[in-house]
Amino acid sequence: MENQVAAASGKLGVLVPGMGAVATTFIAGVEATKKGLAKPIGALTQMSNIRLGKRTENRYPKIKDFVPLASLEQIVFGGWDVYNENVYQAATNAKVLQQTQLDAIKAELEAITPMPAVFDREYVKNLDGQHIKAKDTKWNWALALMEDIKNFKEKNNCERLVMVWCASTEKYIETTDIHETIEAFEAAMQADDDRIAPSMIYAYAAIKMGVPFANGAPNLSCDIPALVDLAKELGVAIAGKDFKTGQTLMKTIVAPGLAARALGVNGWFSSNILGNRDGLVLDDPDNFKTKEVSKLSVLEEIFQPEDNPDLYGELYHKVRINYYPPHGDNKESWDNIDIFGWMGYPMQIKINFLCRDSILAAPIVLDLALFMDLAQRANMSGIQEWLSFYFKSPQTAEGLKPEHDIFKQLIKLQNTLRHMMGEDLITHLGLDYYQDLVESL
Ligand SMILES: NC(=O)c1ccc[n+]([C@@H]2O[C@H](COP(=O)([O-])OP(=O)(O)OC[C@H]3O[C@@H](n4cnc5c(N)ncnc54)[C@H](O)[C@@H]3O)[C@@H](O)[C@H]2O)c1
Repeated sequence: MENQVAAASGKLGVLVPGMGAVATTFIAGVEATKKGLAKPIGALTQMSNIRLGKRTENRYPKIKDFVPLASLEQIVFGGWDVYNENVYQAATNAKVLQQTQLDAIKAELEAITPMPAVFDREYVKNLDGQHIKAKDTKWNWALALMEDIKNFKEKNNCERLVMVWCASTEKYIETTDIHETIEAFEAAMQADDDRIAPSMIYAYAAIKMGVPFANGAPNLSCDIPALVDLAKELGVAIAGKDFKTGQTLMKTIVAPGLAARALGVNGWFSSNILGNRDGLVLDDPDNFKTKEVSKLSVLEEIFQPEDNPDLYGELYHKVRINYYPPHGDNKESWDNIDIFGWMGYPMQIKINFLCRDSILAAPIVLDLALFMDLAQRANMSGIQEWLSFYFKSPQTAEGLKPEHDIFKQLIKLQNTLRHMMGEDLITHLGLDYYQDLVESL
């Protein structure tokens, strides 16, 4: 496959619907890194190494030196938002980064302004921004987005584009008949059907323009059969859903460890307080429901209660998110985990994570942008399950259970990179080391 990965030449346009806390922290971090003012901590594409070959070979390059990724200098940013603030203003309002840090890259951030959004307040009730495209059919909105994409690419002289949804979580909806086939989906857009969410219109426009699309929020967006089929048909990479950051990141680190030791779990109560705009949007029960479904699926899939009723058959899992403005983007989460061991004796684990939501999410946006672009150049189209590592609710092919264990997800990601570059896959069996030893005696 190695020779099939096209070089990362020219500029890469990274388009973000939603230029709020996460997107502006991502952009500011990249600009600060380019100026040598910060380090891109948390981004595998910038900081991590990958083992190649046998342990005795001592080959452990940086991922960015192993696979042909676009460099930070090649990235150009663009996007859409319902508020007409440039990235410097939006980052200032988001209050994630210190003002002195933002001021050091003010000119770069001020130069990035959002395009008017495709927005339907029915899907996000707690926002009142007016920087939106004039009322039209959903079909015409899709055409307008495609025009934006085309103009952005030309104006910025980009070789390729990727799109990462960083906009608000939309209200909960389920897949219906109009989401099943592309014909039904397009007809529904023309008929301005309520069941077409704005995030689906962005995803449709991206796929039609051959732009890989990753969804950082839990709303359906490209996770419907019509758009999965379209992506496959047009040879475009898609991935989702919902960035795996604070509490769920911890869950997918701790839960596989408990399951590995065959320890029982009968209760997991997760509570959060956060006070950013994301928290405000999630304060609406319809929007919270979308997030709740995404957060709840994780433990079931890791513990598999149906296969392990003695250990996990009684598992009670509850997730709460409370909007609490004084904490801003500094989300605090508490987890109370009721576990039991030998002969059923109970124990408890308490986790109190004082995290920073956007600080954890920003490197994920960067990795997804670069890896989605890589996948596209490697001719990998449709759902990119190897990027499950980054998502709370990994999108998978129909009928396929997602893998939530972060360690298995990492092995999958690394093996995919090895596969792309024609390197041996690593199974961690390791018997050959001992075989060689025996033969040499
Ligand atoms: N920060 C995290 O740790 C994390 C983790 C997982 C998922 N997410 C998701 O990422 C998204 C962004 O989070 P955030 O903290 O930056 O939120 P935010 O509210 O600061 O930013 C979202 C932005 O999207 C804009 N927007 C809403 N609908 C839009 C549309 N149709 N078109 C264009 N713009 C639109 C809003 O005006 C806002 O500026 C949310 O959906 C959130 O749930 C965040």
